[in-house]
Amino acid sequence: MISAETAKPGTRIVLLPPDLENLSGFEAALAAGWSPDPRRAGDEAYVHGELQRLRQDRSRFLDDLIPDGRRRAGSGPPPLTTRLFWIWDGEFCGSISLRFQAGTEELPPEVSGHVGYSVVPWKQRNGHATAALRLLLALAAKEGLDRLVILCNEDNDASRRVIERNGGELFMRGPHPSDRPDQIKLYFWVRPGTAG
Ligand SMILES: CC(C)(COP(=O)(O)OP(=O)(O)OC[C@H]1O[C@@H](n2cnc3c(N)ncnc32)[C@H](O)[C@@H]1OP(=O)(O)O)[C@@H](O)C(=O)NCCC(=O)NCCS
Repeated sequence: MISAETAKPGTRIVLLPPDLENLSGFEAALAAGWSPDPRRAGDEAYVHGELQRLRQDRSRFLDDLIPDGRRRAGSGPPPLTTRLFWIWDGEFCGSISLRFQAGTEELPPEVSGHVGYSVVPWKQRNGHATAALRLLLALAAKEGLDRLVILCNEDNDASRRVIERNGGELFMRGPHPSDRPDQIKLYFWVRPGTAG
């Protein structure tokens, strides 16, 4: 397990691989209306559907949460590997994931950058996302990834700040195939080895 201090004195966060023991924190966040997918924030039908699926079969829900890149092995592009973690400060705070294809910087068009994250509203503005991204970058460095692309919507000041605090360098503005064509995104390079 890896951990980091947050901006809030005395608060230490860890990245936990999801498992059946800590799934109840995720469940409580869904029950409170939080959407794990930022693009579907406020989509009550989606959140309710996820909660129902979780309660119907917890093991299966957990399996579905963690995509298995090996299923796509074979000829063609390298499989997409996803490392999903809960952001945890003693309680569930949100999620963060690293997505990559070994040996290339490329990603499938439906994947919006190498990193995605979301912090539940009642834990926001405590430095959790900034600390979580710092921890994830350390993992990315261990995976041998030299440079990541991280995206945020152009009006998402909080996410932009999280990326910049981790050394993000803006290199492009524009839409992304994973979202609506009129949703302008900021594209950042982030170098795992150099984040401070
Ligand atoms: C973006 C998000 C993950 C940030 O999480 P967080 O834990 O609150 O972020 P941090 O506490 O680490 O804050 C990082 C910086 O953003 C600033 N910030 C946080 N919330 C903010 C807000 N709503 N408006 C403006 N700035 C904000 C903080 O003050 C901090 O700035 P500082 O480093 O200068 O002090 C969170 O707002 C969230 O989950 N939003 C919805 C999902 C989402 O947008 N995910 C990102 C998709 S790219």
